[in-house]
Amino acid sequence: MANLSVNICGVPFKNPVTVASGTFGFGREFSDFYDLSRLGGIMVKGLTPAKRDGNKPPRIAETPLGMLNSVGLQNPGVDAFIKTELPWLRQFDTNIIANITGTTPEEYAEMVEKLCDARVDMIEINVSCPNVKEGGALFGASVKGITDVVSACRKVSTLPLIVKLSPNVTDIAEMARAAEGAGADSISLINTLLGMRIDLATRKPILGNNLGGLSGPAVKPVAVRMVYQVAQAVKLPIIGMGGIMTAEDAEEFLLAGASVISVGTANLVDPFAALKVLEGLERKLDSTGEAVCDIIGAVTLNS
Ligand code: SIN
Repeated sequence: MANLSVNICGVPFKNPVTVASGTFGFGREFSDFYDLSRLGGIMVKGLTPAKRDGNKPPRIAETPLGMLNSVGLQNPGVDAFIKTELPWLRQFDTNIIANITGTTPEEYAEMVEKLCDARVDMIEINVSCPNVKEGGALFGASVKGITDVVSACRKVSTLPLIVKLSPNVTDIAEMARAAEGAGADSISLINTLLGMRIDLATRKPILGNNLGGLSGPAVKPVAVRMVYQVAQAVKLPIIGMGGIMTAEDAEEFLLAGASVISVGTANLVDPFAALKVLEGLERKLDSTGEAVCDIIGAVTLNS
């Protein structure tokens, strides 16, 4: 059997297949379909200091080979997650990664402290949600914003910190270097690309929030390109995501330099998607005799 294990930031992953924040809730619905212990990790729905009801509907619009969302970080709040969802998730033998968004660096740091006490495995600092008026992508759009948030979290964290970057920037490598410089342990990318759809009958945007984040296979080439560029720019391990539907998609991200991958929008199309990606990767590596670690960053450019 192929060796699928990877270790990033001192955290062992039995395999590199995780599920992306915001596409898997807290896992409850998916646990009816397969044993969540099969996954390398679960990145839970984005958490905020207090409960949020999210943006007004419609929050989803279909697009060719993808979808727009403007959920607006609907979640029960970090305390309810720690009290109710985390103990339930702990029955599974998989890494639990909390995703957090605040409106100030101090809010991020307060959540980090709580999650360190609660002993999740890693914390993903979301500086890239495009659907909120304060915080989120506003921090991820500048070197200063990233530096302020990551430094505040680094000061208080005893756990590995992943920084989730926005693709809605001119130079993704510069943002990754800012995260590395401020003390990040890992980079995850990409969050969604800002988009818009218009209803021809009403001549109004389809989404209640007007704009939303584009995800799904349509964004995959952009994501692979950004993973490659970040892998060249920093020494940190990368968690790659953006339109992964199949094992072959996952393999592209690994070749580009990701050590771990996340299945996102595909979970909404097929609840077994992440499991199928894992089983496809297992079959592929069994057939080539390689370990996952052998193919991470193994792309060679044309001369
Ligand atoms: C949302 O809840 O609006 C999506 C979260 C994100 O894009 O980070």
